[in-house]
Amino acid sequence: MEFLDAVSLRERHTFGMDVRARRFAVLSTLDDLPAIRSEAEHSGRVLWLGGGSNLLFTRDFDGLVVQIALKGIRTLADDGKDVIVEAAAGENWHDFVRHTLARGWHGLENLSLIPGTVGASPVQNIGAYGVEVKDCISEVVCADLDDNGRLLVLGNADCRFGYRDSIFKRQAAGRLLVVAVRFKLSRQAAALTGYGDIRAELARMGRAGTPSALDISDAVMHIRAAKLPDPAHLGNAGSFFKNPVLPAADARALIAHNPELPHYAAGTGKTKLAAGWLIEQAGFKGLREGDAGVHARQALVLVNYGHASGKEIQALAQRIQEAVHTRYGVALEAEPVIL
Ligand code: EPU
Repeated sequence: MEFLDAVSLRERHTFGMDVRARRFAVLSTLDDLPAIRSEAEHSGRVLWLGGGSNLLFTRDFDGLVVQIALKGIRTLADDGKDVIVEAAAGENWHDFVRHTLARGWHGLENLSLIPGTVGASPVQNIGAYGVEVKDCISEVVCADLDDNGRLLVLGNADCRFGYRDSIFKRQAAGRLLVVAVRFKLSRQAAALTGYGDIRAELARMGRAGTPSALDISDAVMHIRAAKLPDPAHLGNAGSFFKNPVLPAADARALIAHNPELPHYAAGTGKTKLAAGWLIEQAGFKGLREGDAGVHARQALVLVNYGHASGKEIQALAQRIQEAVHTRYGVALEAEPVIL
């Protein structure tokens, strides 16, 4: 495998900052893991890169960046009702979702059009429109980087999934590399259309009656395209903040003063608040400073209009956090990995 010097990462992450990796390589086969390991001894830090859709670079990366390009999709089991399908980490997420839907396998339709790769999906337990990827994951295949890349298979419970969270972001970060994900999908899954926007969009499409999984995927694609900026045209990393989860009593007090604040039950004794609403009310929606901005149609998304630096985006994020905290007493946690 080839190791390159001073490679631009501009086209390799969705925020579009013009930063460089000191060393760079593409991982297309697990046979190359030993070569990466010995290179890493000289290069220091290693960044394993998927689609780069959840990253903010505030400086050049002074180490080795490895683009995960493992490919392949295969069916492991099919009993006529359910299937287990395995996709390699480097497969494009949305292409994989459409691949499953085209075969009549339901489960991932609400997660259409999320930027990134299959391998990144369990790391932050991607979610949208009432579904989280953990709902369909049966197992995750990982390489243990502390044990010569030995392959391990983690069951769903082993992954300790939470809201935008998993073992891969915490205890196993830097040790377990996701190399493939196994999904349990169904030929008969019930359509999950409860999320308000989806119902309205299906009605607009004239498919409100008995929508197919492909209809739901189309509806999600329309909603996302209307609300969320396409990274191909406007740099961003999706939601820049998590929706804050508060003890229900604290949330009740806040909602009593702000009855419009959208909120959802989030497990026993917990309430999730819409960060986008808090940011909009604090006056940031559509704000632009230089090339750093807050998206005009979804205040949770910070955008790079062209030449914003990661530090400028980070400074804007900090101002938003301070303003929301001063006004509502709520701490917003950044969602992307900041490097
Ligand atoms: N809202 C506002 N102003 C805004 C944005 C939102 O008032 O500028 C309100 C909306 O009106 C709505 C509520 O906040 O009542 C929730 O908004 P929305 O449905 O757009 O979803 P979200 O909570 O802002 C989350 C995910 C998104 C996912 C959507 C749809 C997180 C951090 N974000 O956003 O995921 O697409 O739900 O399910 O959980 C991502 O993680 O990158 C991402 C885009």
